[in-house]
Amino acid sequence: MLRGLFRTKNLDEILSNVGGPQFALKRTLTAFSVTLIGIGAIIGAGIFATVGTAASGTPERFGAGPSLMLSFVITAIVCGFTALCYAELASMVPISGSAYTYSYATLGELIAWIIGWDLIIEYAIGNVAVAISWAEFFNRLLRNLGIHVPDWLTSNYRTATAETLAGAPHIFGVPIVFNIMAFGIVALITVVLVWGIKESSNFNAVMVLIKIIVLLFFIGLALYYVSPATMAQNWKPFQPQGWFGTLTGAAVVFFAYIGFDAVSTVAEETKNPAKDLPVGIIASLIICTILYVLVAGVFTGMVPWETVRGWTAAQRGESLTMALETVAPQALWQNTVIAFGSVIAHTAVLLVFQLGQPRIFFSMARDGLLPSVFATVHPRFKTPHVTTILTGVAVGGIAAFATVDEMVSLTNIGTLFAFILVCVGVTVLRRKDPGRARPFKVPLGPYLLPGLGALSCALLIYFLPEGSYWRFVGWLALGLAVYFSYGYTRSAVGIKLGRPERTPLGLKFAAICFVLIAVGLFVIPHDVAPRELFSEAFDSGAEKHNQTLYGLVIIIVGLAGALLGIWQGSKKEA
Ligand code: ALA
Repeated sequence: MLRGLFRTKNLDEILSNVGGPQFALKRTLTAFSVTLIGIGAIIGAGIFATVGTAASGTPERFGAGPSLMLSFVITAIVCGFTALCYAELASMVPISGSAYTYSYATLGELIAWIIGWDLIIEYAIGNVAVAISWAEFFNRLLRNLGIHVPDWLTSNYRTATAETLAGAPHIFGVPIVFNIMAFGIVALITVVLVWGIKESSNFNAVMVLIKIIVLLFFIGLALYYVSPATMAQNWKPFQPQGWFGTLTGAAVVFFAYIGFDAVSTVAEETKNPAKDLPVGIIASLIICTILYVLVAGVFTGMVPWETVRGWTAAQRGESLTMALETVAPQALWQNTVIAFGSVIAHTAVLLVFQLGQPRIFFSMARDGLLPSVFATVHPRFKTPHVTTILTGVAVGGIAAFATVDEMVSLTNIGTLFAFILVCVGVTVLRRKDPGRARPFKVPLGPYLLPGLGALSCALLIYFLPEGSYWRFVGWLALGLAVYFSYGYTRSAVGIKLGRPERTPLGLKFAAICFVLIAVGLFVIPHDVAPRELFSEAFDSGAEKHNQTLYGLVIIIVGLAGALLGIWQGSKKEA
């Protein structure tokens, strides 16, 4: 076995050794500002945009219909279990890095690396989805104001219509289509974040206030334009597609709750993290749940879910403004206010996630798992500028070309996976280190609520679209490639354990094989469900037989090679 793959980092060491003064972040945040950061991260694309798809479903997926209200409650309960676990860990280990840091202390280096890598999906890919959705609403806002941006600058290749492609400028015969607004907003946010956390958190507070007011305004407009009798009518049947619809809806709207955990990434910038973090996490979750259930109620009461089914993907992408337009086409300025509020809400989410991602990189670099340049802070602004800029370039670049639905599903699966490990981490740490002070404790013992948390997150994963499974595991395989070729020998914990200074050949080979596994996972057609893998690969009459078979063979070869490489690498070391 390789040395110390599951070696945990000592908590006292984590707490005392956060690096020299060049690594120190400024402590300026209070419980109130932490709650605002939570709300800033939570209310965004999920409530303004994904409610349409969650209520109506798609040809391939069930819809919740009016039971969307119930979907929101179910997801809130799932997140509630995890929020308690996050609160316990964040109060015990108030260090920047969130789930990554907790799993280093509880489940060991390899799992910590996997989590850190997985959190890139939650933060960066999540933000890709939010940036694309931001652009949809911004475009709506401009349209309402009579400004028309050419379609080729607001689309992507996957969803662009034939008309858009024909109207786009061509280079060497290839039409140029990209989402300039999604890219632009990420660039702007990046500049704000490099400038500094204090400024950014004030900026966030104003935006949070605006978006709460705008959601309340939407609820008020719905009650004004739609009679209670019509709403009651539209709420029947409550579960048009049964529990499958409700739970599929819950898996989609999970996106709307992502963010309460982002609070824990600013632990090192919080004045009294042991108290302020649990308060911030739980308060922000409760406030958002109340607003969401109300919005889901009026939304499904305004428009029959079957009408939403008839909307295009782009229309579902701006669900709240579409719902208002449906019941009150004359209410243009009100519609513009909602579009404006949505843009603000999305901006706040972008801000928190663009703030969180660099801080996770920062923690990973401090532990030696990523190059140390990732852990430097700007001498004047005291912000992790290198990782902030890197995140901005990656998120903005992908957002210019990706589609929102796929990004939402991928974000959900990545985040739910991280949540499962956080829940498990609480139980493990209670057993391993029972005597440690826990300023906040998950009630009812170490098993019940964390166990329910892990199980309910797994249940939501089950209801996500198949394509996201392949992409997710492919991403994790790439992460293992990076770990075995870089982090394993550079890790601070590993160096102390006497790991070799240079990466052994076997591990380099294993890393290449993990890349191969990822390639195989991306080759498999993403509409093939994992349970259909073998039947599709070995049935020569199946529609995607060849592609599935090639993918499967590449994965098996990669897996065998990776195991061989690790075995070889560990032999040298022994
Ligand atoms: N919860 C965040 C949103 O809905 C990610 O935009």
